[in-house]
Amino acid sequence: FEVSWDAAAAEKGGWPSFMAKEVAEQPDAVANTIRGRIQGDAVVIPELDGLDELFIGINRVIITACGTASYAALVGKYAIEQWARVPVDVELAHEFRYRDPVIGDDTLVVSISQSGETMDTLMAVKYARERGARTLSVCNTQGATIPRESDAVVYTHAGPEVAVASTKAFSAQITALLLLGLHMGRVRGTLTSAVASDAVAELQSLPEKVAQVLAEETEHVSQLAGWMADTRSVLFLGRHVGFPIALEGALKLKEISYIHAEGFAAGELKHGPIALIEPGQPVFVIVPSPRHSSLVHSKVVSNIQEIRARGARVIVVAEEGDAAVLPYADEVIRIPLTGALFEPLLAVVPLQIFAMALATAKGLDVDQPRNLAKSVTVE
Ligand code: G6P
Repeated sequence: FEVSWDAAAAEKGGWPSFMAKEVAEQPDAVANTIRGRIQGDAVVIPELDGLDELFIGINRVIITACGTASYAALVGKYAIEQWARVPVDVELAHEFRYRDPVIGDDTLVVSISQSGETMDTLMAVKYARERGARTLSVCNTQGATIPRESDAVVYTHAGPEVAVASTKAFSAQITALLLLGLHMGRVRGTLTSAVASDAVAELQSLPEKVAQVLAEETEHVSQLAGWMADTRSVLFLGRHVGFPIALEGALKLKEISYIHAEGFAAGELKHGPIALIEPGQPVFVIVPSPRHSSLVHSKVVSNIQEIRARGARVIVVAEEGDAAVLPYADEVIRIPLTGALFEPLLAVVPLQIFAMALATAKGLDVDQPRNLAKSVTVE
């Protein structure tokens, strides 16, 4: 009688890869990041106690990060501007410090990093501090270098992320930025209590909705990826907060399935990318809810018509009940109803599953893609 013991398999807890495990852990990553940060109808982040003056005094925010974290940053821009009414720029950390940016003590520089050790991001934080800016980091690793170098830190509680391609940390980063936007909005007096309490209710329902997408779409999306294993190029379109999700969907595919992929703002289509559309070209379109803006929704639907007329194979990610997409879509992936700024947390899930299933169909190691490191600690 022999017991075979495979430590790596045990750590994966029965999942075929760390990435599969981490994708499935997203409801917990979101729930754990929210935990302890809601008081009644309001978001109150205890770690930011005593910083009200800072949030009231700043005139601008710059969010800096690399890779997947920089797409979470873009979602954060929409949320912080909407709720806290302060201008937000997003800048890749490696660009930020080589161009003499205009920053000072009225600037809050928010850095986002899963590892807290990315050298490009760390150097951007140090540079911002030297220039007199206030610094806040959003980080998934307790006690890492970037939070130690920052004035304040909001930890994401996604748990350790092992797969190189980031998934649950991304969801936790978006969650933390939504919380930060709501916290800042409350402190700055720019949030009505109705908006705040709706947002809090929405936040609390998110883990369950993420779980619903996983339960309802994993098989469908995996099948789709299996059929598309020979695809050489995939495009992703999104608008509003769907735009960063299009970028993230394309990055996931590049990282682990080595397929050429590009994400575009849907409105940019007619300014260039539409020239790429030829018969059979797969295009994912993240469709915003018509309940939030029928105008934005109808513009994305006309983008879908335009690419479909040129032979694109259209895969839409759309809210349940959105029937306007049906006549033009080859495949429809459904996400539950949520607030406009919360949609990224639901829409990204099928894109992660798609990349993972496509890489698996190609026989690739989804956890350890070639040429990439989990944390890049050189400039
Ligand atoms: C590396 C990883 C990416 C990650 C980026 C930023 O390039 O391969 O998956 O998004 O670093 O990492 P960080 O730890 O700073 O979030």
